[in-house]
Amino acid sequence: MKIVHIIPTYNERENIGKMIEKINQISQNYPDWKNEILVVDDHSPDGTAQIVKDYQKKFDNIHLKLKKKEGLGRALIAGYDYAIKNLKADIVIPNDADFQWDPKDFPKLVDKIKEGFDVVVASRHIPGGKVVGWNWFRKLNHEVSNTLLAWLVAGVHEVKDHAGNFKAIKVKGILDKVALNKMKNAGFSFQLHILYELGKTGAKFVEVPVIFCERKFGKSKIGFNRYYIRDIIEYIRSSIFIRIDRSKSFFKYVVVGIIGFIIQTAISKVLIVIAINPGIAVSIGAEGAIASNFILNNLWTFSHKKIVGRNILLKFFQFNLVSVGSIIIQGAIVGIGTYFFGVESWFIFMVLSIIFVVIPYSYFAYNRFIWRIQK
Ligand code: GDD
Ligand code: MN
Repeated sequence: MKIVHIIPTYNERENIGKMIEKINQISQNYPDWKNEILVVDDHSPDGTAQIVKDYQKKFDNIHLKLKKKEGLGRALIAGYDYAIKNLKADIVIPNDADFQWDPKDFPKLVDKIKEGFDVVVASRHIPGGKVVGWNWFRKLNHEVSNTLLAWLVAGVHEVKDHAGNFKAIKVKGILDKVALNKMKNAGFSFQLHILYELGKTGAKFVEVPVIFCERKFGKSKIGFNRYYIRDIIEYIRSSIFIRIDRSKSFFKYVVVGIIGFIIQTAISKVLIVIAINPGIAVSIGAEGAIASNFILNNLWTFSHKKIVGRNILLKFFQFNLVSVGSIIIQGAIVGIGTYFFGVESWFIFMVLSIIFVVIPYSYFAYNRFIWRIQK
């Protein structure tokens, strides 16, 4: 199993050597894992890259990717891509160079992947995790980006800590399904965006509590500097984009549902006109709508996780089961509603059950059971 530790650096002369040594020292306890270290440096003026080159002479698992100064997001995009394509990683573990996330926690993250999780996030916001030494400005920034933007605006609920770099991600079927080349984040909005993209692959997430310490050597690059406004604007834009992107597939799903309803009505009507028993006519119409919904959702709503090949018949069968579920839900709600409020209330209960239960239920079921990214 090959693990690639991805360390973005900008002026980390005092830290990078210690970090390399520490990761390699911890790795000795896990001889089954092949640990590689990839440093992504933006030609730091302090000579960070030269230190990495010196370490390459000492250890044979050190890789250096040099690029121009473009921000943390771009460095990570380049690093993830290099780890997958050039180093053939099975797991990537991004971390900062400055020991704020203690590298000694990395085996805990890997263990969770071995338990079957796909994305393991080191978290400050679950019991046992915490932050040491943030001032009010840092706290305010974090609350705005993590709670207001990531949780409420973007609606990324897979984890509670969206901002950190330290995590373990399985490559096969998960990270290799993310179109990294389409990601444009320059700054720290990358951290939120990658979680969203990973979520779309159907990844299983888990958080592991860790303590986020203070930086001992060197200076922080994130905070009130000349990139601050650019990064904040990008974070807001990214959160809104995520919200729209998510509602886009929901919107398509509703349109598909309306088309299905029209098809059902048309088929039923034609069959009744040619004197077929209305019960049979409506059932055939319903199956017509189910088929149309399945085909259109596959080609349009969930085109990014399109079902192809032999699997399609099995999925169509499961899709029918979900639809039967909708019929039972509607029947039950209308049955209970009319029992209490009289027969004339059937229509209102049917509409209420469709809007508040059937639509969310089937959207959830489709995402969860039918259109999961093939692993
Ligand atoms: N290559 C490259 N290019 N690396 C960068 C750049 C850049 O433009 N900017 C920052 N880095 C590197 C730093 O050298 C460090 O290793 C790591 O990214 C994190 O930067 P810090 O300067 O230590 O920022 P922080 O402590 O405020 O970071 C916190 O917030 C970030 C964003 O939310 C931590 O939680 C990070 O894990 C998190 O990514
Ligand atoms: Mn830091």
